[in-house]
Amino acid sequence: MNEVRVGIVGLGNVGSGTLAILAGNREAIEQKLGFPLRVTAVCSRAVHTKTLPEAFAGVLRTTDWREVVRHPEVDVVAELVGGTSVARQIIEAAIAHGKSVVTANKELIALEGAELWDRAIGAGINLAMEASVAGGIPIHAVLREGISGDQVMSLWGILNGTSNYILTEMEQRGAPFDSVLREAQGLGYAEADPSADVDGYDARSKLAILAALAFGERIRPADIYVEGIRRISPMDFQYARKLGHRIRLLCAAHRRDDGFLLSVRPTLVPVGSMLASVMGAYNAVMVKGRYGADTLYYGRGAGPHPTGVAVVSDLMRVAREIRSGSPERVSPFAHERLAQHQPLPVTIQKRAFYLRFRVQDRPGIIAALAGILAEKRVSLDAVLQEPCDTKDDLPFVITVEPTREEALREAVDRMAGLDFMVEPPLALPMEPQL
Ligand SMILES: NC(=O)c1ccc[n+]([C@@H]2O[C@H](COP(=O)([O-])OP(=O)(O)OC[C@H]3O[C@@H](n4cnc5c(N)ncnc54)[C@H](OP(=O)(O)O)[C@@H]3O)[C@@H](O)[C@H]2O)c1
Repeated sequence: MNEVRVGIVGLGNVGSGTLAILAGNREAIEQKLGFPLRVTAVCSRAVHTKTLPEAFAGVLRTTDWREVVRHPEVDVVAELVGGTSVARQIIEAAIAHGKSVVTANKELIALEGAELWDRAIGAGINLAMEASVAGGIPIHAVLREGISGDQVMSLWGILNGTSNYILTEMEQRGAPFDSVLREAQGLGYAEADPSADVDGYDARSKLAILAALAFGERIRPADIYVEGIRRISPMDFQYARKLGHRIRLLCAAHRRDDGFLLSVRPTLVPVGSMLASVMGAYNAVMVKGRYGADTLYYGRGAGPHPTGVAVVSDLMRVAREIRSGSPERVSPFAHERLAQHQPLPVTIQKRAFYLRFRVQDRPGIIAALAGILAEKRVSLDAVLQEPCDTKDDLPFVITVEPTREEALREAVDRMAGLDFMVEPPLALPMEPQL
């Protein structure tokens, strides 16, 4: 019975979770495959300080990833380092040495996955990347196989657990963004530099990957509209609740006759929708197919074990293909070839909007704002104001009926210049389709 041999580079959260599963679930994995997966080499900068599961007592330990990628007893390399520099070198070198690659690296795959796949095809090896989006949710497998017979029309995701944790804590406890962020950092849920999470860049990389699988389009992350959660405050949750909504950092992708619309932005979602029920560090993806209608996928978006399951399952799939000896490979992007498109500008979307103001109170404020909305042909829907003592920083909310975002933005820009504004208005779209 021929085994398939694995080299693991990166022994942090994901690498250690992967090793724990490969050791703890070894018998079941072998039973499923019909042959063993054997770890033959592990690598990290501080590999000699790491405690490995007993099962791996005899494996090669090295601080030099080059030893792993050229090792004659490694068939598959798991790149679990992250980032775009060393990780790229590891993957390229592994491919050059004829090794298949499993990676959890969303940043690199979103930027250069298509080129890496081209190289992998050229070298006759496989590239697998399930763990790169939504950790424990097998959304790649769903789009690549489970519903590949459908045509994806729309996809929505809560793809960043840190932001979702912060938003749900703010909502439940009425705590401000900065203090919840500090707590999340203390608990290890948020990085010391939280920008990738709270400014939406991590979610944007994941959306770019899902858009490739869903639509067959290669979309550069930098071309996706992104807005983070820093401006959301506890009062926004109160107003959203009054309107029957919650606030989520929503990734959205829509197919239209004229192209694709993609965005990552804080959005009001109806409280009865399934995505509004996604709390804490959980992730979810909802897909609307042209034929199969709605399907929803939910689970832990990160963490050593949930992400480790995705890596191990990819290792198993790749190992089966190596054993079958077939040169045919299913594209990890679910499409044989990716087209390349600029997404459409989000400003062409027609949406209802939530506008939150902080003003110095004086007569005529609503009239001034209504005048600007009327001038831009934006119809006002409702005005809401919670009781408030302060006259020099008075919050209130206006909702507007579905309008082209372009007109709404022009109105908001004009409003921001009014002398009674304490800060520029906050404008959040309201998602009607969920
Ligand atoms: N954390 C999650 O829950 C999660 C979920 C989904 C996807 N991912 C992705 O998984 C990847 C790994 O994330 P992580 O959270 O496990 O990161 P991590 O905890 O920071 O681990 C990174 C590992 O890479 C090793 N490393 C760094 N530079 C190296 C080099 N030049 N040579 C050899 N080893 C090197 C580090 O070594 P030392 O430990 O020896 O310093 C560490 O073991 C990233 O692409 C991330 O985006 C993570």
